[in-house]
Amino acid sequence: MAQQEDVFKKLVAHCKEYGFVFPSSEIYDGLAAVYDYGQNGVELKNNIKKYWWDSMVLLHENVVGLDAAIFMHPTTWKASGHVDAFNDPLIDNKDSKKRYRADVLIEDLLAKYDDKIEKEVEKAAKRFGESFDATLYRQTNTRVLEHQAKRDEIHSRFVKALNDSDLAELKQIIVDYDVVCPISGTKNWTDVRQFNLMFSTEMGSTADGSMKIYLRPETAQGIFVNYLNVQKTGRMKIPFGIAQIGKAFRNEIVARQFIFRMREFEQMEMQFFVRPGTEMEWFKKWKETRLKWHKALGLGDQKYRFHDHDKLAHYANAATDIEFEMPFGFKEVEGIHSRTNFDLSSHEKYSGKSIKYFDPELNESYTPYVIETSIGVDRTFLSIMAASYTEEQLENGESRVVLKLPAVLAPIKLAVLPLVKKDGLPEKAREIMNSLKFDFKCQYDEKDSIGKRYRRQDAIGTPFCVTVDHDSLTDNTVTIRYRDTMQQERVPVEKLHELIGQKVSMKQLFKKIVE
Ligand code: GAP
Repeated sequence: MAQQEDVFKKLVAHCKEYGFVFPSSEIYDGLAAVYDYGQNGVELKNNIKKYWWDSMVLLHENVVGLDAAIFMHPTTWKASGHVDAFNDPLIDNKDSKKRYRADVLIEDLLAKYDDKIEKEVEKAAKRFGESFDATLYRQTNTRVLEHQAKRDEIHSRFVKALNDSDLAELKQIIVDYDVVCPISGTKNWTDVRQFNLMFSTEMGSTADGSMKIYLRPETAQGIFVNYLNVQKTGRMKIPFGIAQIGKAFRNEIVARQFIFRMREFEQMEMQFFVRPGTEMEWFKKWKETRLKWHKALGLGDQKYRFHDHDKLAHYANAATDIEFEMPFGFKEVEGIHSRTNFDLSSHEKYSGKSIKYFDPELNESYTPYVIETSIGVDRTFLSIMAASYTEEQLENGESRVVLKLPAVLAPIKLAVLPLVKKDGLPEKAREIMNSLKFDFKCQYDEKDSIGKRYRRQDAIGTPFCVTVDHDSLTDNTVTIRYRDTMQQERVPVEKLHELIGQKVSMKQLFKKIVE
């Protein structure tokens, strides 16, 4: 675990050193849980967004896009339930003065019991060797059973407390199981209080009578309030979806783990409108499709898992998360929710406008049900960076840091490097770069030794380095070096476009999603 934390610290430092992520307004010492994306970060982020966007609107004829404003009429948030119910239970430690989410403290406690169980099983597996039956051991070993019983007891109290919104019981669980503040090490806790996560501001001058408005905490409501506009103008037939990418804002209590939990972040959401009664079938379909989208990136299938929600949000009748194995454990990257007709019905009620769909096949009108897929751009970015960051010990005794990013998402697709800064090599390199730059993000670099230049490109995840040498001038060939294997190959210049094009095309990923 300590080793993983160490890797995470190195990753955060790497993100800054190589222009991926900077703390916001750093010259003023930064702003908690707000980050800026640098020259390489923004390219990676844009590629992630394109991969998601095209996987929605290119691969599905019945999914169209939208770009709604961040500011929305304040009644939107009353109707959506966010004014009344978008709260986190918070608790303070009186000694450290640190604030925590009570539910997160209890989830961490549950994870500790899971760890204890796994450690017992691992120890026994080592002791018994090949004949070891892990399932039987879990069912019979006294120590495992004790841990499991304790975990189940905490879990059932926790779920009940969440569902009953019983804040006193949340605190009681923390007290009963001796949860201590990680900073002060004490159990000196305040009561648990609810805290609304929406940021608000004023629109219009006070003299005119200004209006309190909110920065949207999710992009989804922009889709719901435009449902009719899109359905009518696009002549959309149910089932159909609306996809949107945009900023969302939450006044998170616990700001930690870098870009995992931010106060300003970006979501990629898709609301899929279906006939009532068919929502579970679509929920299952979208779960499968979304998992394929993640796995197609090739970061390792074992790094993903589903996690069903213990407590359903106020709008959902089924919900699951796609979790990714971050350096700090399995964490939610995407949520898939069956939101019933809660949002559309509520907007109907608050706006007084009918948002019904006339289904010609059934010859009846109804308020559509909704399956939502909601993924954070920043968390996806973090998962990809974490899985790609690699420290390698080379045979020659040197070491290198390499970002093994999926080639399709890499900020720079190829670097063009003249071996030396003379003899017409820079001119030849420029000529090659000019022929490729319309299709691929290229970088030209002539400074330092070729080895140093390779290392710089490894560190930002550039999948291909093209080196121009004296032979290139006579036979029009170059050396292409592959980032992950460091193997080199001599290829004719006219082959470069096809060779690189194939490797960085999103098409290969899309095929994996639809197959
Ligand atoms: N419209 C549904 C919705 O917003 P959510 O589970 O609250 O659901 C969806 O958020 C996704 O947005 C999460 O899976 C996560 O990737 C991202 N997300 C939520 N809060 C975030 C935060 N504070 N910082 C970064 N990403 C966040």
